Amino acid sequence: MTPIPTPFAERLGIAQPIFGFSHSIDVTVAICNAGGLGVYGIAHDPPEAIPAKLAEIRRRVGKRPFGCDIMMPMGMPEGETLESVRADLPPEHVAFMESIRDKYRIPAPTRKTFFNSILRTPTYFEGQLEALLASDVDLVAFGIGLTADAVERLHARGKIVGALIGSPRHFEAFRPLGLDFIVAQGSEAGGHTGTIGTLVLVPEIVEMADEMPVLAAGGIGHGSQIAGAIAMGAQGAWLGTSWLSTHEHAGGDHAIGERLLEKLIEAGSGDTAVTRGSSGKPQRQIVSDWTATWAAPGAPKPLKMPFQHALVGDVLTAIDEFGIEPMIHSPAGQGVTWTRRRQSVAELIETLVRQTHDGLARAARYAGSGGHGR
Ligand SMILES: Cc1cc2nc3c(=O)[nH]c(=O)nc-3n(C[C@H](O)[C@H](O)[C@H](O)COP(=O)(O)O)c2cc1C
Repeated sequence: MTPIPTPFAERLGIAQPIFGFSHSIDVTVAICNAGGLGVYGIAHDPPEAIPAKLAEIRRRVGKRPFGCDIMMPMGMPEGETLESVRADLPPEHVAFMESIRDKYRIPAPTRKTFFNSILRTPTYFEGQLEALLASDVDLVAFGIGLTADAVERLHARGKIVGALIGSPRHFEAFRPLGLDFIVAQGSEAGGHTGTIGTLVLVPEIVEMADEMPVLAAGGIGHGSQIAGAIAMGAQGAWLGTSWLSTHEHAGGDHAIGERLLEKLIEAGSGDTAVTRGSSGKPQRQIVSDWTATWAAPGAPKPLKMPFQHALVGDVLTAIDEFGIEPMIHSPAGQGVTWTRRRQSVAELIETLVRQTHDGLARAARYAGSGGHGR
């Protein structure tokens, strides 16, 4: 594969400026080994589980760089437990969850997962951050929540530090922190997302960021979009949804089962919706009865993050555990339309790189055709 050597890719020593966010270790490793940069999302991992996971990634990628993504939503009072927060949830919300359980005959989960066993207090985040500081991870990205103190401490350990943003306002807030890169994530993205489209946000942030490398994210699942992002001044693309359908995602802690895979393959660009029902913050997901339930008239207003998470954790765990068909869902972006079959990460990256080269060549041909303005 011919490399696409943007300055940021060269600085990192990667052949392809394709950054892949994933909660799967196997996917993260495969992205690195195929020439991109895998970014492992630690949001679901308690601090004590992180060192072994990062050591495994390092062992499997060797000297190749890899990244981690951390989310540090504020607002959970220190000293609370999941039980104490659950005991104080508004009765209207608890009753609503009961009605969902009854309607879909959702049993109580037997599994303990991130959704139903973890309360994200400041101590939890500090533990996660310390695990990153103690590790040899090369790059750290912040999904939600970022402090000057965290950036300083990561820089002191030689980490390359960046953040995901969804608006120029976020960029202004982060500008004084001295970040090494920024991910401009448009509304089309899977997961937590804003309202500004990728095509608008990327050049706007490139202009504001000056010398700071910008990566484009949100709805990207075809290399022509990566070519477009590069033409807009981005130094790479950051993808999340595309990896869900890979062979590497079929196993492990966050395995994508057959029914969810079918839904992803069937979905077109119009089959996602933004809901606050899962976390309290707007999150783009593939449409399901879960998204419809929270959008229906009479549904209560979701609670703030992370209280909503305490409310819905058991039900989300049970939907997965028992495969409650109409409720099965996953965060996914509008680029899910490019998800057409299960394939390996290496195959996917090869296709994306080929399409990127094609797109860049096409643009160069058009630009060289002398047809401007006609
Ligand atoms: C299943 C899934 C889980 C995600 N979880 C996180 C997360 O924990 N932290 C984060 O910063 N971004 C998360 N994201 C967002 C990705 O980092 C990325 O910005 C986004 O997926 C890009 O848009 P795309 O999905 O259209 O490729 C998630 C995305 C998906 C699809």
